[in-house]
Amino acid sequence: MRTFLYVIVPALLAGIAQCMYMPIAAAPNTVTTMTSLGPAVGTVTAAGAVKYVVRYASTPVRWGAPAVERVFLPANISNPSAMPPVCPQDGYSPGQYSEDCLFLVLYVPPNTRPSSSLPMLMWIHGGTNIMGSASNPGLDGSNLAIATQSIVAVVQYRLGVLGFLPPFTPGAVTNPAIHDLIAALQFLHTAGPSLGGSTARVTIAGQSSGAGLVRTLLGTPSASQYFARAWLHSDPMNYGLLPPASLAPFQQETYANISSPLTASVADLLTAYDNTLYTLEQPFDLVGLEGPRPVVDGQLVQYYMQPFATSYAPSNRLLPQQVKAIVLTTVSAEAGPADYANPAFATPLPYAAFLPVLESVLGEPRAGLVANSSYYADPAAENNPSGGDIRSLGVEVGTDYLWRCSNYAFARAYSALGAKVYVGEFQAGALYPDNDSPQAVADFCTDTPSTVCHEDDIYILFGTTPSPNSGQTALTRELQGRYKQWVLDGVPGGDWRGVQGSVVGARILGGQGDGGLVAAGACDPAFWGKQVDFDYQAYSS
Ligand SMILES: *[C@@H]1O[C@H](CO)[C@@H](O)[C@H](O)[C@H]1NC(C)=O
Ligand SMILES: *[C@@H]1O[C@H](CO)[C@@H](O)[C@H](O)[C@H]1NC(C)=O
Ligand SMILES: *[C@@H]1O[C@H](CO)[C@@H](O)[C@H](O)[C@H]1NC(C)=O
Repeated sequence: MRTFLYVIVPALLAGIAQCMYMPIAAAPNTVTTMTSLGPAVGTVTAAGAVKYVVRYASTPVRWGAPAVERVFLPANISNPSAMPPVCPQDGYSPGQYSEDCLFLVLYVPPNTRPSSSLPMLMWIHGGTNIMGSASNPGLDGSNLAIATQSIVAVVQYRLGVLGFLPPFTPGAVTNPAIHDLIAALQFLHTAGPSLGGSTARVTIAGQSSGAGLVRTLLGTPSASQYFARAWLHSDPMNYGLLPPASLAPFQQETYANISSPLTASVADLLTAYDNTLYTLEQPFDLVGLEGPRPVVDGQLVQYYMQPFATSYAPSNRLLPQQVKAIVLTTVSAEAGPADYANPAFATPLPYAAFLPVLESVLGEPRAGLVANSSYYADPAAENNPSGGDIRSLGVEVGTDYLWRCSNYAFARAYSALGAKVYVGEFQAGALYPDNDSPQAVADFCTDTPSTVCHEDDIYILFGTTPSPNSGQTALTRELQGRYKQWVLDGVPGGDWRGVQGSVVGARILGGQGDGGLVAAGACDPAFWGKQVDFDYQAYSS
């Protein structure tokens, strides 16, 4: 049966597909399109796009290289609109996730024909490399596909222990998740054209750790041919990619109690991985605060994608010579949710707490350098050490080093290689819907007019804000308009200046300052990355 499906059906259908194109109305809301990989059954979404849920690869062996699908198969044959199972992760019971999770959810604008040659946009979700899926809130790509006249492809990839931490077993590859994303791009190149997509205009984009994976793909030469440009939303660039040696302790610890990784239950693997993260990251002495992530193995991933040489990242391994146009955006209060979710931030923090809080996160000497810096001075609070409230100052520091300034440092170096680099910052918090919990986070993130928190740009980009007001609708229109030009031509609106030398010129998106530039402040080249190390500089192995 599988042989039949894999070999004969595509051969037959490829012939048919060459002769005719036929979206056939089979059942209400169902569209069948002939593709080079056989018939694709899609469903029409409320917004009018055609949604296809399709398996792009399977992994015959756990941690093995993915085999790209050669047949167009939905996640559920009797229910083509069913979203795919999420990849194994905490928070779901074993019946709710599946290792067979390598799916793309495609959103195609109505009336698209194979000759339409629309740009394709592959979206890589975030979730610290351990959670998330194509079903994440806000990721229905219908509105984005229609507004940008592009095929939006939301991709799932192996997560956590299964995607980033292979054991030392034969057949296991390093960077399984990166292999997955490349397989997804290959599938798009094969199947996309018969759905109306152009292989010459592929953009990859993602948010948070998803943007980190976009950055990784920029440092993976074998992926280079599959996309033309990239948009990175809120990439926590402070965490560099890993040297292979940094993964070894995670592997040793995780598999110490697992006698047979290839046959162990997924639940046991998830538990072992959680224990490892807890054990190894408590002292914060290994690789910084973030767990396993892509490894610069020198074969698949070849560049560290960081601007500064370190003991493990020699200067010829920092950035590729072949560069692509990129947009880097961050939001004004990236660290808001992380900080305010911390019980220590539940009530106002007097100035006396500033240095201890910094020390707990940055260690010495970084904490002292930051506390003493004029960039983070708060004279009123300093004069009243037991009063005041340094919580927003804490959010500023977190936002700067984890996201904003590490992005600026990257932007300067990448642009120096000849790439067009556009940097922007989302502002005007009132315009950004927010579903963070607990409530304290939501209050911080919504009550301050200039505050936009991590993830708040997703609904705006996808046009999925629940009950949008006129300001939100206008901001979505602006951002989707910029994306439309970006996926088509590689220009995010003619009015957006790119990085010039060391001047990043981050454009304000939304709010009263719209169109203006963000002052560099502590992202001055002389401060973060030079005087004060990012984590990838501070942790050397
Ligand atoms: C597939 O969809 C059908 C119809 O909605 C449903 O009854 C069935 O449980 C689904 N199968 C799986 C594996 O989810
Ligand atoms: C391995 O087992 C030991 C003893 O039961 C336990 O203390 C440790 O946390 C386990 N390690 C992992 C990674 O599960
Ligand atoms: C910060 O300032 C204090 C007080 O002036 C000083 O004692 C300390 O050494 C300074 N720390 C650093 C890292 O410069």
